[in-house]
Amino acid sequence: MKVNFTETVLRDANQSLIATRMPFEAFEPILKTMDKAGYYSLECWGGATFDSCLRYLNEDPWERLRKIRKACPNTKLQMLLRGQNLLGYKHYPDDVVRLFIKKSVENGIDIIRIFDALNDVRNIQVAVDETLKNGAHASGTICYTLSPIHNLENYVKLAKEIEALGVQSICVKDMAGIMSPKEGYELVKALKENVKVPVVVHTHSTTGLGFMTLLKCVEAGADVIDSSISCFSGGTSQPATETLVYALKQLGYEVPVDEKICKEINDFFKPVRAKALESGLLNPVVMGTQTDALIYQIPGGMLSNLVAQLTAQNKLDKLDEVLLETPRVREDLGFPPLVTPMSQMVGVQATANVLAGERYKNISKEVKSYIKGEYGKAPGKVSEELQKLVLGDEKPVTCRFADTLEPGVEAARAALGDRATCDEDVLSYIAFPAQAEKFFDAREAKKKNTFTYAIKKVD
Ligand code: CO
Repeated sequence: MKVNFTETVLRDANQSLIATRMPFEAFEPILKTMDKAGYYSLECWGGATFDSCLRYLNEDPWERLRKIRKACPNTKLQMLLRGQNLLGYKHYPDDVVRLFIKKSVENGIDIIRIFDALNDVRNIQVAVDETLKNGAHASGTICYTLSPIHNLENYVKLAKEIEALGVQSICVKDMAGIMSPKEGYELVKALKENVKVPVVVHTHSTTGLGFMTLLKCVEAGADVIDSSISCFSGGTSQPATETLVYALKQLGYEVPVDEKICKEINDFFKPVRAKALESGLLNPVVMGTQTDALIYQIPGGMLSNLVAQLTAQNKLDKLDEVLLETPRVREDLGFPPLVTPMSQMVGVQATANVLAGERYKNISKEVKSYIKGEYGKAPGKVSEELQKLVLGDEKPVTCRFADTLEPGVEAARAALGDRATCDEDVLSYIAFPAQAEKFFDAREAKKKNTFTYAIKKVD
């Protein structure tokens, strides 16, 4: 049996441990080596990398992708995409989604992992369709969560619906690291029995289950697993690549990853990690094992957000009450998976309910939009009381929300005028307008400097 590896150090490990602040120059020298490691794919783009490039690193995300492509001609490049939300938190019209995917593939992406926070298949169908049209690999994704309405039967049904869209693989995405070895084994086994395409497993080490869960998933027939090179592994990141390669090879699995090259890659990233620890960018706490998520059944990141919110308001003594309120709010909302943006919405609402001393006295704008159906279909039933409170006599949106949106590409093009030099600029602007404009200004200023310098040189 063969087990393939997706290396996440450039995207998810970078995002989970150091808030996606790794600049391109920090990993550029090792790319050519990474290209020889035998990875199935290199997760290197999408997720928060795009926003972070523009907002913090003064980098053009598209240029980063082209440079990675050039340095890694032999390895499949992979990105994470939030379906109709692309890389942001709201739904975009279809013309934007299609152009974004076309340009992602043109600039070098081979595999697009496409998910929706609510597992609403309508929210991934356009992205999947466009990925296939451009000849790339669409990996349809199931967001894994635990709730009274999420069970094997539902996940298999969902996987079949996703497979029917024409995806080339199905990914189980356990963003919170709460999938246990038993649950992982049973889920992968059921998927292997019911879908024809390869099954990919993505988890995090947050609760300490990661290695055990991946091993059981491999035993159940998982074709690809996600891992990170060891010095950027563990804690809120993925389990370590080298450890998994070592154990799986010994167990007799065919593993195409080269340990010697892994060692070179890990040695390269050691000083990168040391620097991040020294500057405080990497907090040792996130590298540890946090089992509270297993007790509260909420992601570790959400737990630390709740603590931060309450600390800021000097109300940390209310934490226990908020932790009791959180699952009740989630139930009222029809058990959405606790992944961005749902995790934030549920957490903020639970905190508001406790601090106001009255449930739903204040309802956030986002929760209102959710109840109006603007995020898609809730997995379970939304509380009727809450629906009445938000909607009154208004009817919720029941169609695919993007069908109600006007096209967006031409309007953005017109708004930018000649400040945009290409379609990629237009897309950066649509995704993160303020950050993109700031980046364009800085780029313009830099160009002028270069020009002056050139003249001086001639003198
Ligand atoms: Co992840």
